[in-house]
Amino acid sequence: MEERKRALSGIKPTGNLTLGNYIGALREFKKFQDDYETFIFIADLHALTLPIEPSFLKNNTKDIVAFYLAAGLDPQKTTIFLQSDVSAHAELNSILINFLYMGELSRMTQFKEKSQKLNHEAIGVGLFAYPVLMASDILLYNADIVPVGDDQTQHVELTRDLVHRFNERYKKEVFIMPKAVKPKVGSRIMSLSDPTRKMSKSDPKGDIFLKDDINIIRKKIMSAVTDTGHEIKYDPENKPGISNLLTIYASLSDITIEEAENKFKDITQYGEFKKTVADKVIEVIEPFQQRYKEILNSGVIDQVLSEGAKRASYIANKTLRKVKKTVGLYLHE
Ligand code: TYM
Repeated sequence: MEERKRALSGIKPTGNLTLGNYIGALREFKKFQDDYETFIFIADLHALTLPIEPSFLKNNTKDIVAFYLAAGLDPQKTTIFLQSDVSAHAELNSILINFLYMGELSRMTQFKEKSQKLNHEAIGVGLFAYPVLMASDILLYNADIVPVGDDQTQHVELTRDLVHRFNERYKKEVFIMPKAVKPKVGSRIMSLSDPTRKMSKSDPKGDIFLKDDINIIRKKIMSAVTDTGHEIKYDPENKPGISNLLTIYASLSDITIEEAENKFKDITQYGEFKKTVADKVIEVIEPFQQRYKEILNSGVIDQVLSEGAKRASYIANKTLRKVKKTVGLYLHE
């Protein structure tokens, strides 16, 4: 039997997940589980790259498992696990850290943005070396595809450079070349209060959180920043607010941006448009929140994680042994 291709992705438990995480990543994941051998994890080691309160980290981690299940991931089909449960991530990281360069890492947009907000003397090495751990995540499972939003594609590109470099150095195909896969619509959802800025879990203003009360979600959408015109047209440069709302609508309705534009072509009131967008978001998020609550109360989380850790460790350790052997680390019984 031909081996199935693999898909792998993860989310960092650093804060409350947003509608951006949902559209750019979470809702995409289940689309792969029937055709790919799928690995979806919680990037909890990555969450330590900036200071975080321990109980907040722990609760966010549990939340993400519940969100994965609520979004339709089936633990029979998808291996769901914690990064910190599989020690091979940290071990491969300590090998691969020698294969990426200071110059490359310092050019990463995410590092530049996050480090700018910090005192230069207090930037953790982990924040700088973040893409090495992310490459280790991807390469341990020899993932063919990595479903992510727009902001993570640069890290996947760097992983590809690393694969080239590593395979070249040892003159064999140790790692498979991974490819980032972005959603067709909605790979970069913007903030509702400032549509020139990405919606992000670490920057709460104007962003929709998956745990927000339904009435708050409606309020946030109704007061989303738009422009003074009255045309519902996709034009991110001149109409970033309207374009963002159109993107959210199109994505959650599983239609193209053009189809969404067409639907709203006779509407001239932004208020009416926003109401339809809010109705759509609520139609999707309300039952999702319901499932999330049921899952949290059902006590399945620990079982999902312990089975996931076993399956993930088996695959990851196989790759780790191969890498150790390749680089000349001595393997013995
Ligand atoms: P994280 O936790 O920041 O984000 C999780 C996923 O959500 C996507 N995303 C968005 N998509 C659309 N619009 C937005 N406004 C938006 N904000 C976030 C992200 O692109 C991402 O796909 N480094 C990763 C976690 C990670 C990982 C990996 C991912 C660690 N190792 C290996 C894939 C493979 C991160 O911080 O994602």
